[in-house]
Amino acid sequence: MLSNTNSQKRLAIVGTGVRGLKFWGKFVQENYSDISRFVALCDINPGRLSYSKKTMSIDCPTYTNFDQMLNEVEIDLLFVTTVDSTHDEFIIKALQRGIDVATEKPMTTDEGKCQRILNAARTSKGKLIMGFNYRHGQLFTKLKQMLVSAEVGEITSIDFNWYLNTYHGADYFRRWHGQREKSGSLLLHKSSHHFDLLNWWIGSDPVEVHAYGGLDFYGKNSEIRGERCMTCAHKDSCKFYWDITKSEESMRLYVDNEKYDGYIRDNCLFRNEIDIFDKMAVQIKYANGVQVSYSLTAYSPYEGFRIAFNGKKGRMETWEGIPALETNQEDQSKIYEKEMDQRSHAETEFKFHEITTQLNFEEYKRIEFPFIRKGHWGGDTLMMDQILRNKLADPSLHHAADERDGSMAVLIGIAARKSIDEGRAIKITELTDLKPRVDKWG
Ligand SMILES: NC(=O)c1ccc[n+]([C@@H]2O[C@H](COP(=O)([O-])OP(=O)(O)OC[C@H]3O[C@@H](n4cnc5c(N)ncnc54)[C@H](O)[C@@H]3O)[C@@H](O)[C@H]2O)c1
Repeated sequence: MLSNTNSQKRLAIVGTGVRGLKFWGKFVQENYSDISRFVALCDINPGRLSYSKKTMSIDCPTYTNFDQMLNEVEIDLLFVTTVDSTHDEFIIKALQRGIDVATEKPMTTDEGKCQRILNAARTSKGKLIMGFNYRHGQLFTKLKQMLVSAEVGEITSIDFNWYLNTYHGADYFRRWHGQREKSGSLLLHKSSHHFDLLNWWIGSDPVEVHAYGGLDFYGKNSEIRGERCMTCAHKDSCKFYWDITKSEESMRLYVDNEKYDGYIRDNCLFRNEIDIFDKMAVQIKYANGVQVSYSLTAYSPYEGFRIAFNGKKGRMETWEGIPALETNQEDQSKIYEKEMDQRSHAETEFKFHEITTQLNFEEYKRIEFPFIRKGHWGGDTLMMDQILRNKLADPSLHHAADERDGSMAVLIGIAARKSIDEGRAIKITELTDLKPRVDKWG
């Protein structure tokens, strides 16, 4: 066993892909090494593992076998950043050894795994931290503050629409996210961010979900398809052609290491094996009576969202990224790239987010909130401050998320998927032993 030599928190990562390497790895190494240090990295792909270790400029053992890592290294906090459907294995094994775990969203991808994680957390001395960076995001926190102050009265319903553009949205269909078995579908992989925001804003638990979904654009829906962009015969005519050789990072992380596991990063997004939805509409009823109308579209010409909170005294709303409402236009092809790079989205040009409130029978009021978009609305840094420095901007807002929060977010996605498959409304209590609460924190 490698033992601790000082008081720094001993960190390990399982899953050294792009998110594990750049955020949980490099960003932490660069900003939190006064209080933490990496003692081990694990990934099934030895090439990606060694590239990540080198890029993080750290010196620690690497493992392709997770159990061996747990047997040989003393770890205080494990970061889980693998393919979504595998999170449960690492969370449960670490909790069984009393190790604290911080996991990427979605916590898991089906109700059986969710129940097993809950069981492991209940009997562990380790704690499970959900990496819900969106709820730490500054715009989303501002909305939470405004909801707490009840400016538009008691909230009764929410309209929430999220749009993924034909760069970012398309990218999910190029790799493992396109398979339900691996990502649980975008209702888990992507919408778990949004479902967590809703749960946290509303402060109550979901009780029933009804959804519709379809695959209308990607996958089987094209006349043309190839094996992968790199070797495709339709390079010149396909609007979705992506030249991976122009991305040094993708070449080093993925293409160089295909020989180990056959992970193809630039797969054709029209391949027939894609079995997730690209359009989703979800209705959610909460224990406190709030109802939500949510949708996710993965082939929008622009990346953005609209949210409106309907209260008994009025309505509050905001939006992002809708070109017809912006004075400056953003390059749609760069939005996702910047997000993953911890870089800003043209913050200098987009000076503020607009939040409007309008009380019944009154004129609207407009608030200009600073446009903070770097690292998921600034949430990445604030979440890591909570995880590693135990620092919370305002503890009364309940930013810290645990396995119950992780479960409630994925249970909405799982219920929505089940509702689409079975054509009926699904009760949250059908899925695990969790009982929805009227007041989440009560
Ligand atoms: N919170 C956010 O904003 C955000 C953003 C991006 C990704 N993510 C999450 O981060 C996670 C990783 O996403 P990514 O984009 O880095 O994917 P990725 O494919 O780049 O990386 C996944 C890594 O996991 C490894 N892996 C797969 N199965 C494994 C196993 N059984 N044991 C060990 N390693 C295994 C792969 O080899 C790969 O290196 C996902 O859960 C995703 O949902 C979160």
